[in-house]
Amino acid sequence: MERLVIDGGQRLEGSIRVHGAKNAALPILAAVTMLDGESVLHDVPNLDDVQVMLDILRSLGARVLQEGRTVSIQASSIDTTDVPEHLMRQMRSSIFLLGPLLTRFGSVRVSKPGGCTIGTRPIDLHLKGLSLLGAHIEESHGFIACTATRLRGANIFLDLPSVGATENLMMAACLADGETMIGNAAREPEIRDLADFLNCCGARITGAGEDTIYIEGVERLRARDFQIAPDRVVAGTLLLAGAITRGQVQLTNVRPADLTAVITKLRETGVQVNVSRDILEVKSTGVLQAVDRLQTAPFPGFPTDLQAPFMALLTLANGTSVVSETIFEDRFKHVSELQRMGASIKVDLRTAFVQGVRELSGAAVEATDLRAGAALVLAGLAAQGPTVIDRIYHIDRGYEAIESQLRDLGARIARTRPHTVADATYGT
Ligand code: EPZ
Repeated sequence: MERLVIDGGQRLEGSIRVHGAKNAALPILAAVTMLDGESVLHDVPNLDDVQVMLDILRSLGARVLQEGRTVSIQASSIDTTDVPEHLMRQMRSSIFLLGPLLTRFGSVRVSKPGGCTIGTRPIDLHLKGLSLLGAHIEESHGFIACTATRLRGANIFLDLPSVGATENLMMAACLADGETMIGNAAREPEIRDLADFLNCCGARITGAGEDTIYIEGVERLRARDFQIAPDRVVAGTLLLAGAITRGQVQLTNVRPADLTAVITKLRETGVQVNVSRDILEVKSTGVLQAVDRLQTAPFPGFPTDLQAPFMALLTLANGTSVVSETIFEDRFKHVSELQRMGASIKVDLRTAFVQGVRELSGAAVEATDLRAGAALVLAGLAAQGPTVIDRIYHIDRGYEAIESQLRDLGARIARTRPHTVADATYGT
């Protein structure tokens, strides 16, 4: 398996463009199955999860052409709604196909997506909502089969502001008969991006980005070209890379309003963050203070996806920070790996007490999930001595060639095969 080798201690400096958002691209790629004609999507990030979604679309019969970050998809040739199990199992987000395939074709069959290292991640809210829209749902032998002659609009109130359930039900409602209201909806920017895309295609969605969304069903949706918005989690990770190496990093192609909670927390640590229309810049002031409380919450609260990367920064802050993970029940797997690098962290259920240390030491560590892996990269950038990170396929799911992005900012980081760790070349 490939590994990342990092020679820490380099200040990161320079400017980098943030690539398109994984969590916007995945539901939009699923939504394409509802459209007549060919969609051309721009700035689709080149990530393993995106490749799995494109493979699923091909397996359903869609024609998919990918050239760099431009993806053209002709969904009219879809001839099955039976999602292959081996692809479903590779990526939980394939559950986004439930709503679109059901509402367009009247049937869909998927295997139950497994949980993952950050929690059980059930899909009960997705299924309850589809049932309210008139779907007949059968679960057996690890598969879920949904059928409906035509979905009908309904009033849905989500127990939790689930991002995926909001997206799945919003898509399903687009071609339903009548009006749907989704209450206690998630408000993440990706919900608004998905609604913008669907409305471009002729959907009638209002309120996306607020806690109540209204969808008036239409007869058909037409394919349109669309630009995927920048990835706010990648942006936050790059800001943290500048901060943890006491450097100065500028991001372009970024939406500062998507990162208000993260910018606020970064400033609380003493880091300088400059904001302009679509540019963000982080600049170390030499001071790094602990924060009294970092608590993840649904948007616009602090994003759970940046909890682990931000914790890496806090391991080097003066004082003790209290980090609470309220979204997923098992999202502290990065703690033990950070401890191997000298971090001083105590965990009590879903709260971590992070006592800053003077320095981290490079070590052999392994990524346990996508954002935990990102946290280890950040820690490696600041650590004294080399860090080797194993199981980096987790990281490749959400960061496009992370070593290239960081090398462009001056990091000494290389991707190697296991037996060649010794002669890692850090590239130009
Ligand atoms: C999306 O996952 C993101 N993934 C996640 O990003 C992100 O962490 C999460 O939203 C929260 O912001 C994509 O967009 C592809 P949820 P999703 O449904 O939709 C519970 C990353 O690193 N829940 O909002 O699966 C669930 O267990 C990934 O890029 C139910 O109980 O998240 C969790 O505790 C990780 N029943 C909470 O809600 C349901 O039916 C939030 O989950 C659905 C969810």
